[in-house]
Amino acid sequence: MATFNLLLLAGDGIGPEVMAEVKRLLGFYAKKGIADFHTEEGLVGGSAYDAHKVAITEATMAKAHACDAVIFGAVGGPRWDKVPFEARPEAGLLRLRKELGLFANIRPAIVYPALADASSLKREAVEGLDIIILRELTGGVYFGEPKTISDLGNGQKRAIDTQVYDTYEIERIARVGFELARKRRNKVTSMEKRNVMKTGVLWHEVVGRIHDREYQDVQLEHMLADAGGMQLVRWPKQFDVIVTDNLFGDMLSDVAAMLTGSLGMLPSASLGELDPKTGRRKAMYEPVHGSAPDIAGKGMANPIAMLASFAMAMRYSFNMGKEADRLEAAIAAALAEGLRTADIKSEGCNIVSTAEMGEAIVGELETLSA
Ligand code: IPM
Ligand code: MG
Repeated sequence: MATFNLLLLAGDGIGPEVMAEVKRLLGFYAKKGIADFHTEEGLVGGSAYDAHKVAITEATMAKAHACDAVIFGAVGGPRWDKVPFEARPEAGLLRLRKELGLFANIRPAIVYPALADASSLKREAVEGLDIIILRELTGGVYFGEPKTISDLGNGQKRAIDTQVYDTYEIERIARVGFELARKRRNKVTSMEKRNVMKTGVLWHEVVGRIHDREYQDVQLEHMLADAGGMQLVRWPKQFDVIVTDNLFGDMLSDVAAMLTGSLGMLPSASLGELDPKTGRRKAMYEPVHGSAPDIAGKGMANPIAMLASFAMAMRYSFNMGKEADRLEAAIAAALAEGLRTADIKSEGCNIVSTAEMGEAIVGELETLSA
């Protein structure tokens, strides 16, 4: 049986609740002899701050570097609003992304048949939707320097964030986009703001060049990011793979999440460069949703984004594509049975807890694996 080492970082708020459903799933894989996942656990975000006064410790970072994949819950909450900026919960997540070199963030937005009415858009606009937002994750305004607030001495302060992109950063994310598209509907839409931003000018130029040199067989379309946001809610099915920078990707993926009915549905995979020696890449899997402090501890959270993120781990880190398909089919089956967590409730459906949803999905998996 294949053995893999996982680092589970549940984080804050609903993080531990949705991570408990991953553990249930791992128990199933071990029992069935499908794969043996060795797990370690660590603190990240507010929970790490409470224990160690940092958003993630060096020891936990070392474990993240050493494991086959990090499985991440969620971080943050109003309890930590006043902690120093460097130690805020989100700093733990950003440090993981940056230091592991996880530049490619794949955020699929898929509308499960049973949920076509849960979206705020009309059924015909979202039914059958299957698109990917590919977000650059280690550059741009998230990490650019200078990043400061300074006192101007006249009662005014000045805040600066810096948006920076180098050619190689755009080239590598563009290649991931074209490769993904080749396995799908063969279309890439690149989004930037070249009408305002120098980084947009370079982004547009570099994506176009990679396309012309290496991927002429893929259809490439350029769109200004604001127009892209509008098109995403007007007619999302026109897209296949959207490739965009760190900040636009953050915003557009939240928009895409709502097309699927709830933020609780969107999984993500964050991948690093392929290591030519080992043939492997560093990876972290996390739901797109946050820590939802308002519902934490109530057993109400939707575990689907977390479990679907694990399906992405099966596909991208463990080369178990069939198992990934099966897990996604089990999620669809639980939804088709009428089970809903509160965030996706609709008339005539059965409202269940986080644990009941997890249990039902593993139950469906059991049936599908029989
Ligand atoms: C996301 C989140 C993070 C981000 C936060 C928690 C720092 O919104 O993964 O989309 O802005 O990248
Ligand atoms: Mg976000």
